[in-house]
Order: sequence, then C-alpha cells, then structure tokens
Amino acid sequence: MKAAIERAFRERFGTDPEHVVRSPGRVNLIGEHTDYNDGYVLPVAIDRAIWLALRPRRDGRVRLHSLDEPDPVDFSIDAFGPSGEGWAEYVKGMTRALLDSGRKLVGWEGVLASGIPIGAGLSSSAALEMAVAAAFAAVSGFAFEADAMARLGQVAENDWVGARTGIMDPMIVAQGRAGHALWIDCRSLERAAVPLPRGVAILVMDTGTRHDHASSGYNDRRAACERAAGRLGVSHLRDLSSKDFETRAGMLAATDRRRARHVVHENERVLAMLDAMRGGDVEAMGRLMDESHESLARDFEVTNRALDAMVRIVRSRPGCRGARMTGGGFGGCAIALVDAARAEAIGEEVRDAWEAAMGGRPEVFVTRASKGTSLV
Ligand code: GLA
Repeated sequence: MKAAIERAFRERFGTDPEHVVRSPGRVNLIGEHTDYNDGYVLPVAIDRAIWLALRPRRDGRVRLHSLDEPDPVDFSIDAFGPSGEGWAEYVKGMTRALLDSGRKLVGWEGVLASGIPIGAGLSSSAALEMAVAAAFAAVSGFAFEADAMARLGQVAENDWVGARTGIMDPMIVAQGRAGHALWIDCRSLERAAVPLPRGVAILVMDTGTRHDHASSGYNDRRAACERAAGRLGVSHLRDLSSKDFETRAGMLAATDRRRARHVVHENERVLAMLDAMRGGDVEAMGRLMDESHESLARDFEVTNRALDAMVRIVRSRPGCRGARMTGGGFGGCAIALVDAARAEAIGEEVRDAWEAAMGGRPEVFVTRASKGTSLV
C-alpha cells in the first residue's frame, strides 16, 4: 500500500510526499458497549489500514483527496463548518478538536487510500481521525501523543459527528501493538498488552450490512445504560458486579434491565478473557466470545440477521473455537477465534456456506494484530 499511495501522490502533485501515515482499523475481541460505561475492552489493531501521503501547505488550508471518493475535502483551518455527512466530517471534526485543544495547526494536502471497509465495524472512522491527527502532528511540529490524540478523536466523534462513542476505537487505533491485543480499563485508562495465544488466529467476516452510529440505535443504547446506572445509584454500570446487579435488577424497566445486564456481564467476561488469554486457555476464550454474542443478540439487541447467521455458520466449522459480532453492531463484521492451521480453510468454507445460505460471497480474511497509527 505504501508504494501505491506514494505513486498516487506523485501523480496528483508531481513530487514525492513529505510524510506517509499508516493508521489501522481494529477488531474488538470482547467487551462490547462497555467503554462508555467506564468498563473494560480488549481490542486488537488489525493489518488493514488507512494510508495517507501528504505535504504541508503554507496557506492554512487542508486539501485531501481520497482514492475512493469523488470529491476532495477542502477547507481553511481558520474558518470551516460542517458540510453534511460523509468522510469529510471526520477530517473536520478532528481538526476542530485539535484547534480547541490549543494546538497551532499548519495546513497540508494529500492523498488517502483506505483498506478498511466503511461502516463495517472495523473502525474506519477512528482510523481516519488518527491519520488526520498524525498528519497535523507531522506538519505542525507537535508530538503525536497517542493518549491525547485518542481523547481528541473521541471529542471529534462526539461533538462534531454526533455519535456518542467511547474511547475504545481511537485508543486502540493510536496504541495498537503488533502481535498483541490491548486490555483497557476505560475509566483509569490503565492498559496491558496481551499476546494472542499460539496456534489460534482471528478470522474477520464481513456480512456486507452496514451501520451508522450517528443515527439513533447506538446513542439509544448509551442512553439506556446511563438511565439504568442512575436508577441503580451508581455513576456507571462498571461499578456493579453481576451479583449486585441481579439482586437489584428488579428496579429497572424491562428493556433497560436487559441492556444493563449485558454490560455488567460483559465486563466480567472481559476479565475472564484476559485470564484465559494469559493462561493460553483457548477453549475458554472461544466460549466467552460465544456468550458475548448471545448477550449482544438477546439482551443488548445490536446484532442483525446477517451477523447472527455469520456467527452460526462459522461456529459449525471444525477448528472454530468461538465467534461473535465485533464493534458497535447493527451490521458489519463478525470475528471468530480459529485454529491457525485451519484458518484459511475455514475462511473458504464460510464463503461457500454463506453463498449457499444467503447469496453473494462475503469478504473473509485472517487478520494479524498490528501496530497503531504511525509515520512510515
Ligand atoms: C463503536 C464505538 C465504541 C464502542 C463500540 C461498542 O465501535 O465507537 O466506542 O462503544 O461501538 O463496543
């Protein structure tokens, strides 16, 4: 991808780029809809990424061409407003968040190519936000401090785009480590890099269905969690053990009770997953992923028919240890923990079985844990 993006830059601007940024997508192994409840997550930065080649501009403008989009994003850092929906909003939102943090920004122009499908639950939006942050850091002369940049990515998403997302996605995108998942306590931001046990691989399976987190579903779920926490007298659902919760759950309206139940148990599953990973207990890892999916389907209700079907299909293959949807849900990708030796074969079997049952060939790929946003 690096050579391709450099070539695209040369074709457009007639010179070599001064900087090239790589910013990965992510999958979450477990801990879904827990981040904004101050809970735990266990994501992995993947080997699909956004690539951005750029050079500074002296006139205070940002001009970015995407190889996948017809129109460039083009605006002046001194005066810009929203232009509707689409990828431009992530670029502008990140610019606004950086400006509001007090950083002095120099303009730039560049070309972007994305290897991350959009709206597929692989965090293409956080990858873009962190790529933009790294581009500004490179030309403006401030450090790309991963923690600070991740927080500003969340600000961009919350305040500009209007999705009340948590810290997980920009955090893992900015901080990913090759060969490792990152356990994050979304309250303290304490974290630990945990290697994937030997002999297993992560399979990513795209259902082709798509979400839009700025629309109601995601924000509704978050509101239900906040309502439940308030009713149960805690600041966040993170503060409840499953035992506490089950004794007091009767205070909640039925739907909020199911939403909160998912979050409380999911947090405990993340901690169990961490132990299982450290102990190399692949069977437990798979079981926890299966349980997470059931809980997201039944109680949190953020899966769809396609995600449920994908998970069912892959689980029926020998060598699959467990499977679940990943990301915010309402469409997008599922992941499976599979025996490494059978990973490619399982991928092929899943494509065939999906085609027979649902029609069309889905994109299925084995992914590797990669490093976070960086200049290359
Ligand atoms: C989206 C959000 C994250 C997180 C997940 C669900 O990916 O961006 O903050 O809430 O959904 O776990």
